[in-house]
Amino acid sequence: MIDLKINNQTYQVDAPDDMPILWVLRDLLNKKGTKFGCGVGQCGACTVHLNGQPIRSCITPVMVAKGAEITTIEGVDEQGEHAIQIAWRENNVPQCGYCQSGQIMSAINLLENKAAPSDRDIDNAMSGNLCRCGTYPRIKKAIKQAASILAKNNEKISVNQLSADEGVQS
Ligand code: FES
Ligand code: FES
Repeated sequence: MIDLKINNQTYQVDAPDDMPILWVLRDLLNKKGTKFGCGVGQCGACTVHLNGQPIRSCITPVMVAKGAEITTIEGVDEQGEHAIQIAWRENNVPQCGYCQSGQIMSAINLLENKAAPSDRDIDNAMSGNLCRCGTYPRIKKAIKQAASILAKNNEKISVNQLSADEGVQS
């Protein structure tokens, strides 16, 4: 059994050390918000945060998350009132939606590091997240809007609005 902290809740999972975190999230804990795209670390669909840093959960073995904090898309804000969620909605960013949880997790990390990112900052930070639907211009607008919302509210971005994720223990 491995103890994992995910979105401020502790879970016990019966998983081999080398099982990718993505498998643990989706198949063992039924957290389906994080997506399987390529499975080889190339597309960003599976992005989650590990101790606040974005990682590719499809190629990261669960053993590295022992004693660490995982944040998934479900942990951003269950009410959908996080600045990034508001900006994503107002800009109608998703098309099919498949890549979007990974995009949002990368965008949160960008805004943690740059409160007012330039176009180049956004291109650099988001280049590892692919979108087959070509939503890149809307992603850029939404990131800028989220930055404006946060600046207006004098807030720093955080995912400490973590919601009470269902504490299913496996
Ligand atoms: S599914 Fe992990 S990077 Fe593509
Ligand atoms: S919205 Fe369809 S892959 Fe990005």
